[in-house]
Amino acid sequence: MSTPSIAMHNNAKHSDWIARTLSAVWHPCTQMKQHELFPPVCITRGQGPWLYDDQGEAYMDCISSWWTNLFGHANERINQAIIAQLNKIEHVMLAGLTHPGVVELSEQLSALTGGHLGHTFYASDGASAVEIALKMSHHFWRIQSKAQKKEFICLANGYHGETLGALSVTDVPLFKEAYAPLIQGVHIAPSPDFRLAPEGVDAREWALGAAAHLENILENHHESIAALILEPLVQCAGRMGMYDPVYLRRARELCDRFEVHLICDEIAVGCGRTGHFFASEHAQIWPDFLTLSKGISAGYLPLSLSMTTERIYQAFYGDSMSEGFLHSHSYTGNPLACAAALAGLQIFKDDHVLATNTIKAQSLKDAFSWVEGDGRLMHLRQQGMILAFDLDAKTQALHPQFSSAFFKNALSHQLLLRPIGPTVYVMPPYILEEEQIHWMGSEIQKVLHQTLSARS
Ligand SMILES: Cc1ncc(COP(=O)(O)O)c(C=O)c1O
Repeated sequence: MSTPSIAMHNNAKHSDWIARTLSAVWHPCTQMKQHELFPPVCITRGQGPWLYDDQGEAYMDCISSWWTNLFGHANERINQAIIAQLNKIEHVMLAGLTHPGVVELSEQLSALTGGHLGHTFYASDGASAVEIALKMSHHFWRIQSKAQKKEFICLANGYHGETLGALSVTDVPLFKEAYAPLIQGVHIAPSPDFRLAPEGVDAREWALGAAAHLENILENHHESIAALILEPLVQCAGRMGMYDPVYLRRARELCDRFEVHLICDEIAVGCGRTGHFFASEHAQIWPDFLTLSKGISAGYLPLSLSMTTERIYQAFYGDSMSEGFLHSHSYTGNPLACAAALAGLQIFKDDHVLATNTIKAQSLKDAFSWVEGDGRLMHLRQQGMILAFDLDAKTQALHPQFSSAFFKNALSHQLLLRPIGPTVYVMPPYILEEEQIHWMGSEIQKVLHQTLSARS
């Protein structure tokens, strides 16, 4: 396979942009001082799966630009849809006004759930959609004269974003610790992540065991609990922890039994990532709230949403203003973002994306079959277009700086990858060709050898 550029990444190269970004931009999820050793890469354009930096070097976007991109960068069909919308109107406020794009998108999303989640409330970033689901859930119970239902259950190692409400239901100590005094306490149920299972216990059994703990929490606290929030099937920020769909089925049953809402956060796993359009479909369940962001605008523009049921919508419908859901963001349901989303949904139909992804997922599996034969690696796992593996404990101990070293080495192999601690994963855009998938797999093997043969 020929790659777009053969120039090697040069750590020492500092363009003007780098100096200026370091002086003026406070980058997210970053200890800025680390950029003294390894400066950020300045991306100036993209095409398909490739990102190009200001030196003309190319990197395959193996992680879909923070799990957002579905159909490649500068996709002609999505570009044209946005341009067409731009020539009509760039933004419409959604209180008191509406626009065709947001209506069509809401109708199409409702149809994708068979009408179960027929009402969609919009925001911009993922965390805001989570805030909406949490607030709506408690507000619903308050309207039902159950205002004491104001607590939430989340899963150990779960991630739902970093605004205060979303952070309260996130269980990643690194992100949460500094803000602990600012956030509400939650019930944390054990994770069904299959990596945690002892030898001899299968994924289904392990998930049912975790669900038994959930049942226990619900039995004891359901009267004060509004909702359970979880990431269906893959805890992405939790180092791609994967689990059996039986957990979702049990969670749905338990939530029904104990009168607690189920919030499925599909911000990372929705839009076809796991094989079905919605990850919840693997368990044949629908939640009371389903959040989407990232892939819903095909990775183009900030768009997030929380879908819900007729029952919940009707509870807020009435004469009293205070029973309405009085929440808003200025760019809620932005028309350009909706145009990108509609173009993305059209591509799903025109290109039979879910069916082709089944074939691509098999290629992905084949391209990483070498992982099984490498004694330093463990937990090779896959759910649709997400594949991950971990370093074993001994190798982790020998390489405490593994993820940053791997990231740098990957760039010199024309790959954009961001291991999470000792977990290497790929979550590529759906447009990768078979040959590109295999190239990615074999280059990652080289990067791994390079990284593990050096002391970090
Ligand atoms: C499952 C999940 N929920 C919520 C979020 C937060 O989305 P955002 O970063 O757009 O606020 C993320 C982001 O990675 C996520 O993976």
